[in-house]
Amino acid sequence: MSKALDGVRILDFTHVQSGPTCTQLLAWLGADVIKVERVGEGDATRGQLRDIPGVDSLYFTMLNHNKRSITLDTKKPQGKAVLDTLIKHCDVLVENFAPGALDRMGITWEHIQQLNPRMIVASVKGFGPGPYADCKVYENVAQCAGGAASTTGFDDGPPLVTGAQIGDSGTGLHLALGIVAALFQRNSSGRGQKVLAPMQDAVLNLCRVKLRDQQRLERTGTMHEYPQYPDGKFGVAVPRAGNSSGGGQPGSILKCRGWETDPNAYIYFITQAAVWPAICKVIGEEGWITDDAYATPAARLLHLKPIFARIEKWTMTMTKFEAMEVLNQYDIPCGPILSMQEIAREPSLRETGTIVEVDHPTRGKYLTVGNPIKMSDSATEVTRSPLLGEHTDEILTQFGYSAAQLAQLRTEGVI
Ligand code: COA
Repeated sequence: MSKALDGVRILDFTHVQSGPTCTQLLAWLGADVIKVERVGEGDATRGQLRDIPGVDSLYFTMLNHNKRSITLDTKKPQGKAVLDTLIKHCDVLVENFAPGALDRMGITWEHIQQLNPRMIVASVKGFGPGPYADCKVYENVAQCAGGAASTTGFDDGPPLVTGAQIGDSGTGLHLALGIVAALFQRNSSGRGQKVLAPMQDAVLNLCRVKLRDQQRLERTGTMHEYPQYPDGKFGVAVPRAGNSSGGGQPGSILKCRGWETDPNAYIYFITQAAVWPAICKVIGEEGWITDDAYATPAARLLHLKPIFARIEKWTMTMTKFEAMEVLNQYDIPCGPILSMQEIAREPSLRETGTIVEVDHPTRGKYLTVGNPIKMSDSATEVTRSPLLGEHTDEILTQFGYSAAQLAQLRTEGVI
Protein backbone atom coordinates (compact mmCIF):
# COMPACT_ATOMS: atom_id res chain seq x y z
CA MET A 1 0.00 0.00 0.00
CA SER A 2 1.26 3.50 -0.78
CA LYS A 3 1.63 6.07 2.01
CA ALA A 4 0.34 9.61 2.24
CA LEU A 5 3.82 11.17 2.36
CA ASP A 6 5.60 8.80 -0.02
CA GLY A 7 8.46 10.63 -1.75
CA VAL A 8 8.86 13.28 0.98
CA ARG A 9 12.35 13.29 2.47
CA ILE A 10 12.86 14.79 5.93
CA LEU A 11 16.21 15.94 7.28
CA ASP A 12 15.54 15.28 10.95
CA PHE A 13 17.74 17.43 13.11
CA THR A 14 15.57 16.94 16.18
CA HIS A 15 16.31 15.66 19.67
CA VAL A 16 14.61 14.92 22.98
CA GLN A 17 10.81 14.80 22.57
CA SER A 18 9.05 17.64 20.78
CA GLY A 19 10.87 17.46 17.45
CA PRO A 20 11.12 13.66 17.38
CA THR A 21 7.36 13.39 17.97
CA CYS A 22 6.82 15.46 14.85
CA THR A 23 9.22 13.55 12.63
CA GLN A 24 8.03 10.16 13.90
CA LEU A 25 4.53 11.11 12.87
CA LEU A 26 5.75 12.18 9.43
CA ALA A 27 7.60 8.84 9.14
CA TRP A 28 4.40 6.99 10.01
CA LEU A 29 2.65 8.90 7.26
CA GLY A 30 5.26 7.59 4.82
CA ALA A 31 8.06 10.18 4.74
CA ASP A 32 11.69 9.04 4.57
CA VAL A 33 13.09 10.50 7.79
CA ILE A 34 16.87 10.83 8.10
CA LYS A 35 17.82 11.54 11.70
CA VAL A 36 21.12 13.40 12.02
CA GLU A 37 22.86 12.68 15.30
CA ARG A 38 26.05 13.66 17.04
CA VAL A 39 28.97 11.29 16.46
CA GLY A 40 29.48 8.91 19.36
CA GLU A 41 26.60 10.02 21.57
CA GLY A 42 23.60 10.71 19.37
CA ASP A 43 20.34 12.08 20.67
CA ALA A 44 20.80 12.59 24.43
CA THR A 45 17.66 10.58 25.14
CA ARG A 46 19.35 7.38 23.92
CA GLY A 47 21.10 7.33 27.27
CA GLN A 48 18.46 8.93 29.50
CA LEU A 49 16.13 7.00 31.84
CA ARG A 50 17.78 3.76 30.79
CA ASP A 51 16.20 0.57 32.12
CA ILE A 52 18.79 -1.75 30.49
CA PRO A 53 22.48 -0.79 30.71
CA GLY A 54 24.05 0.09 27.38
CA VAL A 55 20.78 -0.21 25.45
CA ASP A 56 18.84 2.62 23.81
CA SER A 57 16.28 3.85 26.34
CA LEU A 58 12.54 3.52 25.87
CA TYR A 59 12.52 7.32 25.90
CA PHE A 60 14.45 7.22 22.63
CA THR A 61 12.98 4.13 21.02
CA MET A 62 9.38 5.24 21.56
CA LEU A 63 9.95 8.58 19.79
CA ASN A 64 12.09 7.51 16.88
CA HIS A 65 10.40 4.65 15.08
CA ASN A 66 10.51 4.32 11.29
CA LYS A 67 13.54 6.63 10.96
CA ARG A 68 17.04 6.15 9.59
CA SER A 69 20.01 7.37 11.64
CA ILE A 70 23.15 9.04 10.34
CA THR A 71 25.92 10.34 12.60
CA LEU A 72 27.51 13.59 11.49
CA ASP A 73 29.60 16.25 13.19
CA THR A 74 28.01 19.32 11.69
CA LYS A 75 30.44 21.63 13.45
CA LYS A 76 33.39 20.37 11.39
CA PRO A 77 33.69 21.95 7.90
CA GLN A 78 33.69 18.50 6.24
CA GLY A 79 30.54 17.62 8.21
CA LYS A 80 28.90 20.83 7.16
CA ALA A 81 29.68 19.98 3.54
CA VAL A 82 27.92 16.63 4.00
CA LEU A 83 24.99 18.42 5.58
CA ASP A 84 24.81 20.73 2.55
CA THR A 85 24.47 17.65 0.35
CA LEU A 86 21.65 16.37 2.55
CA ILE A 87 19.92 19.76 2.40
CA LYS A 88 20.01 19.63 -1.41
CA HIS A 89 18.32 16.21 -1.41
CA CYS A 90 15.66 16.74 1.25
CA ASP A 91 12.28 18.50 1.27
CA VAL A 92 12.07 19.51 4.91
CA LEU A 93 14.58 20.26 7.66
CA VAL A 94 13.09 19.87 11.12
CA GLU A 95 14.96 21.06 14.21
CA ASN A 96 14.36 21.87 17.86
CA PHE A 97 17.70 23.13 19.02
CA ALA A 98 18.05 25.91 21.55
CA PRO A 99 17.50 29.33 19.98
CA GLY A 100 20.37 30.33 17.69
CA ALA A 101 22.08 26.91 17.60
CA LEU A 102 21.37 26.35 13.91
CA ASP A 103 22.74 29.80 13.03
CA ARG A 104 25.81 29.15 15.15
CA MET A 105 26.41 26.02 13.06
CA GLY A 106 26.26 28.27 9.97
CA ILE A 107 23.03 26.71 8.78
CA THR A 108 21.08 29.91 8.33
CA TRP A 109 17.80 30.27 6.46
CA GLU A 110 19.69 32.17 3.72
CA HIS A 111 22.26 29.40 3.40
CA ILE A 112 19.54 26.76 3.13
CA GLN A 113 17.61 28.85 0.61
CA GLN A 114 20.69 29.15 -1.54
CA LEU A 115 21.19 25.40 -1.57
CA ASN A 116 17.55 24.42 -1.92
CA PRO A 117 14.89 27.12 -2.34
CA ARG A 118 12.16 24.46 -2.09
CA MET A 119 13.24 23.40 1.39
CA ILE A 120 10.83 23.87 4.28
CA VAL A 121 12.59 24.66 7.56
CA ALA A 122 10.48 23.72 10.55
CA SER A 123 11.38 24.58 14.12
CA VAL A 124 10.14 24.03 17.63
CA LYS A 125 11.22 26.71 20.06
CA GLY A 126 10.12 27.32 23.62
CA PHE A 127 8.76 30.77 22.86
CA GLY A 128 8.00 32.90 19.84
CA PRO A 129 9.52 36.38 19.41
CA GLY A 130 9.34 38.38 22.65
CA PRO A 131 10.98 38.58 26.07
CA TYR A 132 11.66 34.82 26.36
CA ALA A 133 12.64 34.11 22.74
CA ASP A 134 16.18 33.12 23.71
CA CYS A 135 15.22 30.71 26.49
CA LYS A 136 15.75 26.99 26.49
CA VAL A 137 12.52 25.22 27.32
CA TYR A 138 11.45 21.77 28.47
CA GLU A 139 7.98 20.26 28.78
CA ASN A 140 6.94 21.56 32.18
CA VAL A 141 8.21 25.07 31.50
CA ALA A 142 5.92 25.18 28.47
CA GLN A 143 3.00 23.86 30.50
CA CYS A 144 3.56 26.63 33.01
CA ALA A 145 4.08 29.44 30.49
CA GLY A 146 1.22 28.30 28.26
CA GLY A 147 -1.45 28.58 30.95
CA ALA A 148 -1.94 24.88 31.65
CA ALA A 149 -0.37 24.73 35.11
CA SER A 150 -2.18 27.72 36.59
CA THR A 151 -5.50 26.20 35.60
CA THR A 152 -4.74 22.59 36.59
CA GLY A 153 -5.02 21.12 40.08
CA PHE A 154 -7.22 21.95 43.02
CA ASP A 155 -8.22 25.31 44.42
CA ASP A 156 -6.35 24.80 47.67
CA GLY A 157 -3.16 23.43 46.10
CA PRO A 158 -0.26 24.72 43.99
CA PRO A 159 -0.30 24.86 40.17
CA LEU A 160 0.00 21.38 38.70
CA VAL A 161 1.62 19.99 35.56
CA THR A 162 -0.11 17.17 33.71
CA GLY A 163 1.33 13.84 32.58
CA ALA A 164 0.08 14.46 29.06
CA GLN A 165 3.09 15.92 27.26
CA ILE A 166 1.21 18.82 25.78
CA GLY A 167 4.34 20.98 25.63
CA ASP A 168 6.57 18.52 23.80
CA SER A 169 4.37 16.07 21.94
CA GLY A 170 1.59 18.66 21.66
CA THR A 171 3.95 21.07 19.93
CA GLY A 172 5.35 18.29 17.73
CA LEU A 173 1.84 17.61 16.48
CA HIS A 174 1.30 21.27 15.68
CA LEU A 175 4.60 21.41 13.82
CA ALA A 176 3.74 18.32 11.77
CA LEU A 177 0.55 19.97 10.60
CA GLY A 178 2.47 23.11 9.65
CA ILE A 179 4.94 21.04 7.64
CA VAL A 180 2.26 19.16 5.73
CA ALA A 181 0.50 22.47 4.98
CA ALA A 182 3.78 23.99 3.78
CA LEU A 183 4.39 20.99 1.52
CA PHE A 184 0.91 21.48 0.11
CA GLN A 185 1.51 25.20 -0.49
CA ARG A 186 4.84 24.42 -2.15
CA ASN A 187 2.93 22.56 -4.86
CA SER A 188 1.62 25.90 -6.10
CA SER A 189 4.28 28.37 -4.92
CA GLY A 190 7.32 26.25 -5.77
CA ARG A 191 8.98 27.68 -2.67
CA GLY A 192 9.84 26.45 0.76
CA GLN A 193 9.09 28.48 3.88
CA LYS A 194 9.88 28.68 7.57
CA VAL A 195 7.46 26.96 9.94
CA LEU A 196 7.67 27.79 13.63
CA ALA A 197 5.73 26.14 16.44
CA PRO A 198 6.56 27.73 19.81
CA MET A 199 5.78 25.46 22.75
CA GLN A 200 4.05 28.24 24.69
CA ASP A 201 1.72 28.84 21.73
CA ALA A 202 0.92 25.15 21.33
CA VAL A 203 0.08 24.74 25.02
CA LEU A 204 -2.02 27.87 24.97
CA ASN A 205 -3.84 26.60 21.89
CA LEU A 206 -4.69 23.46 23.83
CA CYS A 207 -5.79 25.65 26.77
CA ARG A 208 -7.93 28.01 24.74
CA VAL A 209 -11.03 27.20 26.79
CA LYS A 210 -9.27 28.72 29.78
CA LEU A 211 -8.71 32.01 27.95
CA ARG A 212 -12.40 31.83 27.11
CA ASP A 213 -13.09 31.46 30.83
CA GLN A 214 -10.79 34.35 31.74
CA GLN A 215 -12.95 36.65 29.66
CA ARG A 216 -16.18 35.20 31.05
CA LEU A 217 -14.83 35.69 34.56
CA GLU A 218 -13.86 39.31 33.90
CA ARG A 219 -17.31 40.04 32.51
CA THR A 220 -19.49 38.20 35.03
CA GLY A 221 -17.31 37.61 38.10
CA THR A 222 -18.37 33.96 38.26
CA MET A 223 -18.52 30.67 36.37
CA HIS A 224 -21.21 28.29 37.42
CA GLU A 225 -19.62 25.05 36.23
CA TYR A 226 -16.49 25.63 38.38
CA PRO A 227 -16.20 23.99 41.82
CA GLN A 228 -15.78 27.47 43.35
CA TYR A 229 -19.47 28.08 42.59
CA PRO A 230 -21.69 28.64 44.54
CA ASP A 231 -19.91 28.42 47.93
CA GLY A 232 -16.33 29.51 47.18
CA LYS A 233 -14.75 32.69 45.89
CA PHE A 234 -13.36 33.62 42.50
CA GLY A 235 -10.26 35.80 42.17
CA VAL A 236 -9.05 37.83 39.23
CA ALA A 237 -7.75 34.89 37.17
CA VAL A 238 -9.22 31.58 36.04
CA PRO A 239 -8.92 29.27 39.05
CA ARG A 240 -7.93 25.62 39.15
CA ALA A 241 -11.00 23.58 38.41
CA GLY A 242 -10.08 20.24 39.97
CA ASN A 243 -11.79 17.52 37.99
CA SER A 244 -14.76 19.58 36.90
CA SER A 245 -15.69 19.31 33.27
CA GLY A 246 -14.42 22.17 31.15
CA GLY A 247 -17.51 22.21 28.98
CA GLY A 248 -21.17 23.01 29.42
CA GLN A 249 -21.94 19.50 30.74
CA PRO A 250 -20.87 19.16 34.40
CA GLY A 251 -18.68 16.17 35.19
CA SER A 252 -16.61 14.73 38.00
CA ILE A 253 -14.36 11.85 38.97
CA LEU A 254 -16.20 9.47 41.28
CA LYS A 255 -15.08 6.58 43.43
CA CYS A 256 -15.92 3.03 42.46
CA ARG A 257 -15.71 -0.22 44.39
CA GLY A 258 -12.16 -0.88 45.55
CA TRP A 259 -11.05 2.76 45.68
CA GLU A 260 -9.65 2.27 49.19
CA THR A 261 -6.82 0.12 47.85
CA ASP A 262 -6.78 0.74 44.09
CA PRO A 263 -5.71 4.32 43.25
CA ASN A 264 -7.47 4.05 39.89
CA ALA A 265 -10.83 2.64 40.97
CA TYR A 266 -12.63 5.73 39.71
CA ILE A 267 -14.91 6.69 36.86
CA TYR A 268 -15.43 10.01 35.10
CA PHE A 269 -19.12 10.77 35.08
CA ILE A 270 -20.80 13.48 32.99
CA THR A 271 -24.29 14.65 33.84
CA GLN A 272 -25.19 15.42 30.23
CA ALA A 273 -28.51 17.25 30.11
CA ALA A 274 -29.90 14.99 27.40
CA VAL A 275 -29.68 11.92 29.65
CA TRP A 276 -30.56 13.50 33.00
CA PRO A 277 -33.79 11.47 33.38
CA ALA A 278 -31.84 8.26 32.71
CA ILE A 279 -29.21 9.23 35.30
CA CYS A 280 -31.93 9.82 37.90
CA LYS A 281 -33.48 6.42 37.14
CA VAL A 282 -30.14 4.59 37.29
CA ILE A 283 -29.19 6.01 40.70
CA GLY A 284 -32.70 5.66 42.09
CA GLU A 285 -33.58 9.34 42.36
CA GLU A 286 -36.53 9.51 39.97
CA GLY A 287 -38.00 12.40 41.94
CA TRP A 288 -35.17 14.61 40.68
CA ILE A 289 -36.56 14.41 37.14
CA THR A 290 -39.40 16.77 38.01
CA ASP A 291 -38.05 18.44 41.18
CA ASP A 292 -37.50 22.15 40.35
CA ALA A 293 -34.14 22.10 42.18
CA TYR A 294 -32.76 19.47 39.78
CA ALA A 295 -34.93 19.47 36.66
CA THR A 296 -32.95 21.99 34.57
CA PRO A 297 -29.20 22.31 33.90
CA ALA A 298 -29.20 25.82 35.37
CA ALA A 299 -30.87 24.65 38.58
CA ARG A 300 -28.48 21.72 38.89
CA LEU A 301 -25.43 24.00 38.79
CA LEU A 302 -26.40 25.17 42.28
CA HIS A 303 -26.31 21.59 43.58
CA LEU A 304 -23.47 19.89 41.76
CA LYS A 305 -21.68 18.79 44.93
CA PRO A 306 -24.68 16.94 46.44
CA ILE A 307 -25.62 15.57 43.00
CA PHE A 308 -22.19 14.05 42.45
CA ALA A 309 -22.06 12.82 46.05
CA ARG A 310 -25.32 10.95 45.42
CA ILE A 311 -24.13 9.51 42.11
CA GLU A 312 -20.92 8.44 43.82
CA LYS A 313 -22.91 6.49 46.40
CA TRP A 314 -24.15 4.51 43.40
CA THR A 315 -20.80 4.15 41.59
CA MET A 316 -19.15 2.94 44.81
CA THR A 317 -21.37 -0.14 44.75
CA MET A 318 -19.62 -1.54 41.67
CA THR A 319 -16.30 -1.61 39.83
CA LYS A 320 -15.57 1.06 37.23
CA PHE A 321 -16.10 -1.51 34.47
CA GLU A 322 -19.45 -2.65 35.88
CA ALA A 323 -20.53 0.98 36.14
CA MET A 324 -19.46 1.52 32.52
CA GLU A 325 -21.63 -1.37 31.39
CA VAL A 326 -24.73 -0.02 33.10
CA LEU A 327 -24.19 3.60 32.08
CA ASN A 328 -23.46 2.77 28.46
CA GLN A 329 -26.84 1.08 28.17
CA TYR A 330 -28.36 4.52 28.77
CA ASP A 331 -25.87 6.48 26.66
CA ILE A 332 -24.63 8.30 29.75
CA PRO A 333 -21.18 9.71 28.91
CA CYS A 334 -18.63 8.19 31.27
CA GLY A 335 -15.13 6.75 31.20
CA PRO A 336 -13.04 4.54 33.45
CA ILE A 337 -9.84 5.94 34.97
CA LEU A 338 -7.45 3.52 33.28
CA SER A 339 -4.02 2.86 34.67
CA MET A 340 -1.08 2.49 32.29
CA GLN A 341 -1.00 -1.18 33.27
CA GLU A 342 -4.62 -1.60 32.17
CA ILE A 343 -3.97 0.29 28.93
CA ALA A 344 -0.90 -1.83 28.16
CA ARG A 345 -2.94 -5.01 28.61
CA GLU A 346 -6.08 -3.90 26.73
CA PRO A 347 -6.53 -6.27 23.75
CA SER A 348 -8.69 -3.88 21.70
CA LEU A 349 -5.89 -1.27 21.71
CA ARG A 350 -3.50 -3.91 20.34
CA GLU A 351 -5.95 -4.79 17.61
CA THR A 352 -6.24 -1.20 16.37
CA GLY A 353 -2.48 -0.61 16.40
CA THR A 354 -2.82 1.98 19.15
CA ILE A 355 -0.51 -0.11 21.34
CA VAL A 356 2.15 -1.94 19.34
CA GLU A 357 4.74 -4.51 20.32
CA VAL A 358 8.07 -3.84 18.63
CA ASP A 359 11.18 -6.03 18.47
CA HIS A 360 14.54 -4.33 18.88
CA PRO A 361 17.94 -5.97 18.27
CA THR A 362 19.50 -5.03 21.61
CA ARG A 363 16.43 -4.36 23.77
CA GLY A 364 14.16 -7.20 22.66
CA LYS A 365 10.40 -6.75 22.68
CA TYR A 366 8.79 -3.63 24.10
CA LEU A 367 5.48 -1.80 23.86
CA THR A 368 4.97 1.51 22.19
CA VAL A 369 2.14 3.80 21.22
CA GLY A 370 1.31 3.49 17.54
CA ASN A 371 0.03 6.13 15.18
CA PRO A 372 -3.07 7.74 16.70
CA ILE A 373 -4.14 8.85 13.21
CA LYS A 374 -5.77 6.01 11.29
CA MET A 375 -6.04 6.44 7.52
CA SER A 376 -7.84 4.07 5.17
CA ASP A 377 -5.36 4.53 2.32
CA SER A 378 -2.14 5.03 4.27
CA ALA A 379 -1.66 2.30 6.83
CA THR A 380 1.05 2.67 9.48
CA GLU A 381 3.52 -0.12 10.15
CA VAL A 382 5.60 0.72 13.18
CA THR A 383 9.21 -0.35 12.73
CA ARG A 384 11.91 -0.16 15.38
CA SER A 385 14.03 2.91 16.04
CA PRO A 386 17.48 2.93 14.41
CA LEU A 387 20.70 2.20 16.24
CA LEU A 388 23.07 5.16 16.38
CA GLY A 389 24.46 5.75 12.90
CA GLU A 390 22.95 2.53 11.60
CA HIS A 391 22.26 4.03 8.20
CA THR A 392 25.21 6.42 7.80
CA ASP A 393 26.85 4.45 4.98
CA GLU A 394 23.55 3.59 3.31
CA ILE A 395 22.40 7.22 3.23
CA LEU A 396 25.69 8.74 2.11
CA THR A 397 26.12 6.10 -0.59
CA GLN A 398 22.59 6.94 -1.76
CA PHE A 399 23.70 10.58 -2.16
CA GLY A 400 26.81 9.74 -4.16
CA TYR A 401 29.59 9.27 -1.60
CA SER A 402 32.15 6.62 -2.49
CA ALA A 403 33.55 4.02 -0.09
CA ALA A 404 36.87 5.89 -0.07
CA GLN A 405 35.14 9.16 0.88
CA LEU A 406 33.25 7.42 3.67
CA ALA A 407 36.49 5.95 5.00
CA GLN A 408 38.09 9.41 4.92
CA LEU A 409 35.15 11.02 6.75
CA ARG A 410 35.29 8.26 9.34
CA THR A 411 39.03 8.74 9.88
CA GLU A 412 38.44 12.47 10.38
CA GLY A 413 35.73 11.75 12.98
CA VAL A 414 33.09 13.48 10.84
CA ILE A 415 30.67 10.52 10.66
N1 COA B 1 27.10 17.87 15.39
C1 COA B 1 27.71 18.81 16.12
N2 COA B 1 27.06 19.56 17.03
C2 COA B 1 25.76 19.33 17.19
C3 COA B 1 25.06 18.36 16.45
C4 COA B 1 25.80 17.60 15.51
N3 COA B 1 25.22 16.66 14.76
N4 COA B 1 23.78 18.37 16.83
C5 COA B 1 23.66 19.30 17.79
N5 COA B 1 24.83 19.89 18.01
C6 COA B 1 25.15 20.96 18.94
C7 COA B 1 24.35 22.21 18.70
O1 COA B 1 24.87 22.92 17.62
C8 COA B 1 24.50 22.93 20.04
O2 COA B 1 25.74 23.58 20.07
P1 COA B 1 25.93 25.10 20.58
O3 COA B 1 25.32 25.15 21.94
O4 COA B 1 27.42 25.25 20.61
O5 COA B 1 25.25 25.98 19.63
C9 COA B 1 24.58 21.76 21.02
O6 COA B 1 24.77 20.59 20.24
C10 COA B 1 23.41 21.53 21.92
O7 COA B 1 22.19 21.93 21.38
P2 COA B 1 21.01 22.47 22.32
O8 COA B 1 19.79 22.51 21.54
O9 COA B 1 21.44 23.73 22.96
O10 COA B 1 20.90 21.29 23.41
P3 COA B 1 20.73 21.37 24.98
O11 COA B 1 20.79 19.96 25.45
O12 COA B 1 21.66 22.30 25.65
O13 COA B 1 19.24 21.93 25.19
C11 COA B 1 16.85 21.95 24.90
C12 COA B 1 18.13 21.11 25.04
C13 COA B 1 15.72 21.00 24.63
C14 COA B 1 16.60 22.71 26.22
C15 COA B 1 17.02 22.95 23.75
O14 COA B 1 17.41 22.25 22.59
C16 COA B 1 15.76 23.75 23.45
O15 COA B 1 15.38 24.66 24.18
N6 COA B 1 15.10 23.43 22.32
C17 COA B 1 13.95 24.15 21.85
C18 COA B 1 12.73 23.82 22.66
C19 COA B 1 12.45 22.36 22.68
O16 COA B 1 12.30 21.70 21.70
N7 COA B 1 12.28 21.89 23.93
C20 COA B 1 11.73 20.58 24.17
C21 COA B 1 12.66 19.51 24.07
S1 COA B 1 11.73 18.03 24.32
